Amino acid sequence: MIPSEHQRRAYLQAMGIDIWLPRDESGPELAEVTEEVTAQTSAGGMDWNELRDCVASCTRCELAETRTQTVFGVGNPNADWLIIGEAPGAEEDRRGEPFVGRAGKLLDEMLRAIGQSRDSVFIANILKCRPPNNRDPKADEAAACRQYLERQIELIQPRIILAVGKIAAQNLLGCDDPVGRMRARPHQLGGIPLVVTYHPAYLLRSPSQKRKSWSDLCLAGRLAAEFSE
Ligand code: URA
Repeated sequence: MIPSEHQRRAYLQAMGIDIWLPRDESGPELAEVTEEVTAQTSAGGMDWNELRDCVASCTRCELAETRTQTVFGVGNPNADWLIIGEAPGAEEDRRGEPFVGRAGKLLDEMLRAIGQSRDSVFIANILKCRPPNNRDPKADEAAACRQYLERQIELIQPRIILAVGKIAAQNLLGCDDPVGRMRARPHQLGGIPLVVTYHPAYLLRSPSQKRKSWSDLCLAGRLAAEFSE
């Protein structure tokens, strides 16, 4: 459901954004940045339930030894929007669901502002297991988990991928640029439009950046609409 202008303003306020000034953020052409998703993985032929089971019993990296449970992702398996974060934290590890803490609440508000919800989008992470003490994912852990995410992308076939935060964006785009350099312009992942924005946990610490994040969401909305035309 698309929110009315009134609702949108209320959601923006809930996100901590006082005024919304429409801006043209059309940026460079979609094809400018490309990153191929490798389809030929051992998770390649799995259906959604097989994939879920496979993830639940995964022992491909050392995080299997310390996790409480895997966090497969949540939402609509046919979503237009795929939101990708970093990795489960302590609360996510306990509950088996991504983005359930304070950052998750802000993500919910951001989704509401664009007329989406936790049920209409799909939310996943680079890693399906919690790194101890919330340390950054190691390269081998991200590589071991990558095929699960790639299979999720293939099955969902989203119209837009929103990478939230540095870890998600760098892993997905295969670079080590800061978010400030990756955001506000279109990227692609396996032909699917991808937009980078700030991680909600960062936005909680730096609320002045919420306005930029809102403009990233608007860009993502435009790309999703173009992609489906
Ligand atoms: N929770 C998640 O599931 N992912 C993040 O990136 C942060 C918190």
